[in-house]
Amino acid sequence: MQALRGSVATGAAGSAAGETDKTDETGEMGETGVSRVSSGTVSHVLITGGRGQLGGELQRLLQRAGVPYEALDLPELDVTDERAVRAAVQRVAERAEKQRAAETAVQVSWRAAERASGRSAGGSGGTALVIHAAAFTAVDRAEDPAQRELATRVNAEGTRNVARACAAAGLPLVYVSTDFVFGGEKRVPYEVDDEPAPLSVYGATKLAGEQAVREIWPQHYIVRTAWVYGVYGRNFPGAILGAAAAAGAAPDDAAVARASAEADDAVAAAGAQAAAKAAKASAQATSRSPQPLRVVDDQVGCPTYAHDLAEAILLLAGVPVVQPEGVQLLPQAAPAAASPRAGAPEGAVVLTPAPFGTYHVTNGGSCSWYEFAREIVGLAGWPVEVEPISSAELNRPARRPAYSVLSPAKLRSVGLQLRPWQEALRAFMAELRADSPDLFLPASRND
Ligand SMILES: NC(=O)c1ccc[n+]([C@@H]2O[C@H](COP(=O)([O-])OP(=O)(O)OC[C@H]3O[C@@H](n4cnc5c(N)ncnc54)[C@H](OP(=O)(O)O)[C@@H]3O)[C@@H](O)[C@H]2O)c1
Repeated sequence: MQALRGSVATGAAGSAAGETDKTDETGEMGETGVSRVSSGTVSHVLITGGRGQLGGELQRLLQRAGVPYEALDLPELDVTDERAVRAAVQRVAERAEKQRAAETAVQVSWRAAERASGRSAGGSGGTALVIHAAAFTAVDRAEDPAQRELATRVNAEGTRNVARACAAAGLPLVYVSTDFVFGGEKRVPYEVDDEPAPLSVYGATKLAGEQAVREIWPQHYIVRTAWVYGVYGRNFPGAILGAAAAAGAAPDDAAVARASAEADDAVAAAGAQAAAKAAKASAQATSRSPQPLRVVDDQVGCPTYAHDLAEAILLLAGVPVVQPEGVQLLPQAAPAAASPRAGAPEGAVVLTPAPFGTYHVTNGGSCSWYEFAREIVGLAGWPVEVEPISSAELNRPARRPAYSVLSPAKLRSVGLQLRPWQEALRAFMAELRADSPDLFLPASRND
């Protein structure tokens, strides 16, 4: 899978704010020098957690649309450092302000979203946007008493810092939250105003982040999503491919490959690739059938391709997206009043910012982790059986909701709908295959 290379990624010439690398990440993004904003909407974006799965996709889309951005992550921006967060947000606000003064583009007024949400926001109503994607996402590790405080500091206090900084600078905020705020007792999709009842430390800390955002700054979008995977990072499909390859490579091993049901337990992409190579070699040398993969079948949710999530977030907040692939525009979608200027990338779609508030954003449909794994293995072509097991058998430290499907009703009401999860998975696998052919057996279904 791809990773982000380089220092602080920025799409605005000369705006790099730090120079540190994550040493284990090599890849193709994070270059500077993308052209300046070319359409008349959001003129600058700050992304926290910029080298995560979602952050990587946001960068890719903003680059394509020519929207200047700064993507910050550890160590150059630690969201638990209130002063550093405030400085980063202020810097982005000032850049947007300078740009606004320098350019004659018509800007979308955030007041429209404010009016539609029926709330007065205060602040200056700038044209920069902050997308807060940074989080402590290791769901099981968060249960460890030694890690619990860090999870709280990052997810709750870090989010409080970001919300305060946005309020001080007058910038709208997107906070990315999770289906794990729910308890899983329902059997029909959760609506945005259903009562949260988190079962895990991770869920509780993300919910505390939501509460902080609501308390501090009305100009917010809280975007709850679920089961995120993508080409930038560790995730469930990567874990399944690695486990399928390992099972195929060592059929005599007593150990049964176990695929965990969470991204934080996923194997690194590089490991999956190496395992796939070994599996191929072994498949030629042995005719014995591999051990099955054992995957949890009593948790139902909705896998979400980070690329589609990123498109939806940008469209929701009025940021241009070039030829959206994962998001369908429904008749009620409202094109921005300001049309893109000359020089805007062809096919750029810009919507009027949706009313502020809470939205659920996942791919369409639902499945269990077991069903998800079967689809992945089938698309990759591995001759590996997938066997359903219970959460009790897997015995992870964190409790997960048995059912956490998120209703798309509110998102649809503003004219956006994500493609079904199976379609999104196929798109992801096609991209993965182009980048890492060794993760697939030849002549698999994805051909
Ligand atoms: N992944 C999922 O299945 C899922 C499901 C529902 C909701 N979400 C939410 O969606 C958002 C994006 O998720 P993702 O999958 O892109 O997560 P991710 O890949 O884990 O990315 C999160 C990024 O935040 C960074 N980070 C951690 N602590 C930080 C700190 N103190 N200051 C600044 N950055 C910090 C992480 O760095 P390190 O890697 O160095 O820790 C990582 O690069 C998160 O808010 C998450 O809670 C995710």
